[in-house]
Amino acid sequence: MEEQKKVLCVGLVCLDIINVVDKYPEEDSDSRCLSQRWQRGGNASNSCTVLSLLGASCAFMGSLAAGPVADFIVEDFQKFGIDMSLVSEHAQCTSPASVVISNIRTGSRTILHTNRDLPDVTAEDFSRVDLHQFQWIHWEGRNVDEQVKMIQQVKMYNSKLPQQQRITISVEIEKTRQPLYQLFPYGDVVFVSKDVARHFGFQSAEAALKGLYNRVKKGAILICAWAEKGADALGPDGLHIHSDAFPPESLVDTLGAGDTFNAGVIYTLSNGGSLQDALTFGCQVAGAKCGFHGYDGISRLKN
Ligand code: ADP
Ligand code: FRU
Repeated sequence: MEEQKKVLCVGLVCLDIINVVDKYPEEDSDSRCLSQRWQRGGNASNSCTVLSLLGASCAFMGSLAAGPVADFIVEDFQKFGIDMSLVSEHAQCTSPASVVISNIRTGSRTILHTNRDLPDVTAEDFSRVDLHQFQWIHWEGRNVDEQVKMIQQVKMYNSKLPQQQRITISVEIEKTRQPLYQLFPYGDVVFVSKDVARHFGFQSAEAALKGLYNRVKKGAILICAWAEKGADALGPDGLHIHSDAFPPESLVDTLGAGDTFNAGVIYTLSNGGSLQDALTFGCQVAGAKCGFHGYDGISRLKN
């Protein structure tokens, strides 16, 4: 039997230093937090964590510096069984990191991120990848010009294969940065965030999908998650699909909810599930994740 093909996520891995508080600190105050922990972060890296906890075989492609932070990250990738053979090491660079204030009273996460000098992976790095091992490749929108070239390589690879052997391409447009909007026409599945939707002047996921669908390629699926309002999707048949959110009993940690949602959707679609099933599952996993710290609790959700 052929080995199960993997899902590859391309994007950021960084260190998250998470400070858990039950009251958001005043500026220029000196207070104690309830707890503080290191966690592997970055959108693509978080989506890999969730995919792996759901039982999918997955790989991460991105850059890594050297030193104790990078060692922590490598060890954590290994702990989750995530293939990191496509990670590029830049020994002279500094690891990107986020300081996160995670408020258990509201579930809010306030992120302060820094990336001093670590370059993203390039189309040249990507050209060395053996694409046969993957069934799905997901790009977290970052260095778009290079990412478009990577996607073109996959399109070229796909053009020589029958439909059922082709790699599905998904892209995430999360940050409100103009260059990222170039990615719209490149995904079979396009995740657009509520921040980007709002930036375009849309006040709901439904309005955003209607207004942005003309930017995606023919046949693509456009998906927009909207925190406690759940998520919506629009596919080529013009049918609008919605899932309500699944709020946890108590909201404690929303860090990476979007990355968890994306992983849940990719997991379902890559296993042949319907778009409605994918949205519902994405919201279920992401909603449940908001009820506990980190991602480990996801393994208890598997049916
Ligand atoms: P992020 O801000 O991390 O990108 P989103 O706000 O887009 O995440 O939320 C992604 C998904 O996570 C939503 O579709 C929803 O299913 C779930 N989610 C996020 N916040 C909440 C919340 N407060 N209550 C319930 N579910 C939530
Ligand atoms: C969550 C996250 C964090 C990281 C930050 C980077 O979605 O990936 O893990 O610190 O966003 O913007």
